[in-house]
Amino acid sequence: MPVTYFDHNATTPLDPQVRVAMEPWLGELHGNPASLHAFGQAARDATEVAREQIASLLGAEPAELVFMASGTEANNAVLLGRCWTADFKGHLVVSGIEHPSVWKPTQALQEAGMEVSWVNPDRQGRVDPEQVMAETREDTRLVCLMLANNEVGTLQPVEHVAAGCRERGIPVLCDAVQAIGKVPVNVGDLNVDYLSVGAHKFYGPLGAAALWVGKGATYEPLLRGGSQERQRRAGTVNVPAVVGFGEAARLAADDLEARSSSMLGLRERFESGLGRIPDAVVHGRSAERLPNTSHIALLGADSEALLIRLDLAGFAVSSGSACSSGTVEPSRTLLAMGVPKQEASCSLRVSFGPGNTNREVDAFLEVLAQEATELRRLSSAPRS
Ligand SMILES: Cc1ncc(COP(=O)(O)O)c(C=O)c1O
Repeated sequence: MPVTYFDHNATTPLDPQVRVAMEPWLGELHGNPASLHAFGQAARDATEVAREQIASLLGAEPAELVFMASGTEANNAVLLGRCWTADFKGHLVVSGIEHPSVWKPTQALQEAGMEVSWVNPDRQGRVDPEQVMAETREDTRLVCLMLANNEVGTLQPVEHVAAGCRERGIPVLCDAVQAIGKVPVNVGDLNVDYLSVGAHKFYGPLGAAALWVGKGATYEPLLRGGSQERQRRAGTVNVPAVVGFGEAARLAADDLEARSSSMLGLRERFESGLGRIPDAVVHGRSAERLPNTSHIALLGADSEALLIRLDLAGFAVSSGSACSSGTVEPSRTLLAMGVPKQEASCSLRVSFGPGNTNREVDAFLEVLAQEATELRRLSSAPRS
């Protein structure tokens, strides 16, 4: 049975042009960029081309990018590399809707003795920049605010927060993993100190990500060993994946507007069609959001059960974020937004890609309505 994929925030399919760019590096080309011979130099040249392509998408200097294996690693590198010191003194300001790759290392630092101010968003999923600034102190060592939330898709006022923090000399980490390839991401405009991105959220391969470190930002490597990446990240670079990452960035730079408007069209069609299903709620509906993301609750229809039914009917969606599926905990983001637990447990994330079609959206709406009705009927039926 053909399956319609509506889970692009978890990971995207590989763009065929990205695959073509990677293929030689999975076959005849196999050098280590640190080697001095011709194989090594070819690999080094290829990774430097990719670095330029990604830098160009971000409005950055190529030398400011450090290749890593995942967005998780990039976020951990800043938090743990920067703050994991012997004294564990000082303070962090972190939004309450960050991805686990930010909040879990933050929690570890808190347990080790650092103080943390968590700033929750409003009911639409938007963090108030004034509230973030109000939490900063003399000893604040870092502020973390993501550009786009991975679950609800809300865009955050990073520029505003970064401007305030710059005045006070406080560095800012911006997790842009979910934003890249969907909305413009420019490090100059954002004016942050650290920014994380990964390839597999915008048609590149798994296993390649980058941390952008702005000029003047202090940086301590998390992984120590070889002198790769100008001593900033030890370990041999994943050359095929980095080449694919570069090609994905090149394609996104050429096509960002067209992709965004096609995804927005699908999302709007879906959300207006939801009006036909009783008790359907769109989270963050009135906030500025990623064009491809719709986070909904169908009250009375448990999301885990609904997800399985939809999967059997040929539609792949997610309940909460990809990293938390498999657990039945309600979404931390929704709870931080003040969504009641019961509503959070009936939530689904539908994330479109430019390859999806109106027909797929219409077919999905029909199946969603049927499955939600059936689940609601079963959950309200008296037990024998
Ligand atoms: C906002 C955000 N940050 C970080 C990550 C982690 O990225 P990776 O899967 O490359 O470790 C994700 C992945 O879902 C994400 O959505």
